[in-house]
Amino acid sequence: MPEQIAAWTAEHRNFEKLLIIMERELNLFHRGEQPNYGLMLDIVYYMTQYPDRFHHPKEDIAFERVLERESSASERVESLHRQHDMIARSGKALQAQLDSVMAGVMLPRSQMEQPAREYIDYFRHHIQLEERELFPLAQRVLGDGDWTAIDAQAPEGADPLFGGSLEDRYRTLHRQIANEVGCDCVAE
Ligand SMILES: [Fe+2]
Repeated sequence: MPEQIAAWTAEHRNFEKLLIIMERELNLFHRGEQPNYGLMLDIVYYMTQYPDRFHHPKEDIAFERVLERESSASERVESLHRQHDMIARSGKALQAQLDSVMAGVMLPRSQMEQPAREYIDYFRHHIQLEERELFPLAQRVLGDGDWTAIDAQAPEGADPLFGGSLEDRYRTLHRQIANEVGCDCVAE
């Protein structure tokens, strides 16, 4: 497997950990208990800062190249771009909503819970689709030269949560991941 696909797959496992934590917070919320809004905001913020800015754009670049090799993939590639767009837009909307909750705005439960649950479901489904259909396609049609070109073209950015250096903003979230769902890291 090309190292880029292995890296994407490993990142998906990280994103799924965040979706699990977010879902647990929503379950608290659903039962009328107090969720940790700050934690939810950190998760959504991370999604807008790393997957939306680096992981998805790199996939987009790779699949444009897939399309050059295999024109019959156009519908699947179009759909991939649309999904990335949708995740970015709904992530920003969720972030704005959580920002206002943190600032003291009271929102009806359904207005908060439903978009967050939809975001989680959509993201999970998207990951499954990539791993089941799209990554095998990329593996089949792209060669070493393609991957080198993709690396050169893709925006370069460090992962501020799961990467080598943890950004201050994510310290609480990082601890939560280590305690709740496990990470390949040392709990602080
Ligand atoms: Fe992905």
